[in-house]
Amino acid sequence: MPVLKNIAKLYTCRDEGSQKDIFPIEKAALVWNDGIIRWTGKENELPDEFSHEEFMDAEGGIVVPGFVDCHTHLAFGGWRSEEFEMRLKGKSYLQIAKEGGGILSTVKATREATEDELLNKSLLFLERMKRFGVTCIECKSGYGLTVQDELKQLHVYRRLKEISECTIKTTFLGAHTFPPEYTTNRRGYIDLIINDMLPQVAKENLADFCDVFVEESAFTPAEAREILEAGKKFGLIPKLHADQITASGGAELAAETGAISADHLEQVSETGIQRMAEAGVIAVSLPIASLYTQQPFLDCRQLIEAGVPVAVATDFNPGSAPSYDIHLAMLLGCNHGRLTPDECLKAVTIYAAKAIGADKELGSLESGKKADFLVLDVPDVSFWIYHHNGADFRYIFLKGEQIHP
Ligand code: NIG
Ligand code: FE
Repeated sequence: MPVLKNIAKLYTCRDEGSQKDIFPIEKAALVWNDGIIRWTGKENELPDEFSHEEFMDAEGGIVVPGFVDCHTHLAFGGWRSEEFEMRLKGKSYLQIAKEGGGILSTVKATREATEDELLNKSLLFLERMKRFGVTCIECKSGYGLTVQDELKQLHVYRRLKEISECTIKTTFLGAHTFPPEYTTNRRGYIDLIINDMLPQVAKENLADFCDVFVEESAFTPAEAREILEAGKKFGLIPKLHADQITASGGAELAAETGAISADHLEQVSETGIQRMAEAGVIAVSLPIASLYTQQPFLDCRQLIEAGVPVAVATDFNPGSAPSYDIHLAMLLGCNHGRLTPDECLKAVTIYAAKAIGADKELGSLESGKKADFLVLDVPDVSFWIYHHNGADFRYIFLKGEQIHP
């Protein structure tokens, strides 16, 4: 049974207290076997039963849980780098979408791609995300928008789960936007989602969550409510892309439908925040999307003060957030979202795990959870985010196996 010793600080990040409480243990040790954590505590309190085990030296580094990227659109065809330049010249994300770019251009490219092509591309992304210390991710469909192409994306994720050691949670996002065939027949597309897509997704057990993009350019709250309620009947837990570009009642709807999380929220209303706090909805901040779309950043502090737990994720996708650098998301979460570094660590570990229902199995360093942990060559969490240097990893462990270096 391996024992990691000589840890300057081990941040357990257990789900207690408030956002700022990450429960550091100084001069700690960590014991695991068969991919599961067996013990954490002060090194000088290591139980006798572990004292003759094989030791590893953390060389005075700090230990944190593996990062959880709780919001990605991992499988997609093509890229949209031309839109990056269009935005630099002053065109907005919405204008580009109205002119046929945006989500619909990725829909076209994703429909044209084969399942194997999408799988190979996703695998490459996932390998690189692991090098950023990500050990669990959430992946959404939403670039197919036909029964067949939504299933194709979800089949990619099912295969990814079989191949990868990472923990993967899956979200059905058939309601990402209206496909070109249905722009003048919104009712027809909603019926397709409810009567054809959802039953098939449930039958093949392809998703944990059902997500809807509530926005002027996508679905109204009433349409989203109908889809999320239908999803619930198939056992899919609601999630929402809410209040990103305009305040459209997304946060209120998340509370009303019992969503596990409401994501984006840059334009969230006071009432929306209050309702989320009462209903226990997790807020997911996606600051890389604000960076690339030149939109305001979510003020995470306002949510924390209202009693809403905040997670931070990348939103990795080819349009609004073409980077899977979770360290960048953390830096922006601090500098623009007003999170303290300690709060930000909780946002990418236990609260991110909660936002995708994975908190019973991972997200904190506690006995019985997956042995997903990172050894960082820095004095504390604050220094790590401040210096923003991906090279500071001493070790990365995924399910108890060393995957870096
Ligand atoms: O989370 N807001 C909607 N969906 C994505 C963007 C997808 C895209 O631009 O392709 C988001 O930002
Ligand atoms: Fe998104």
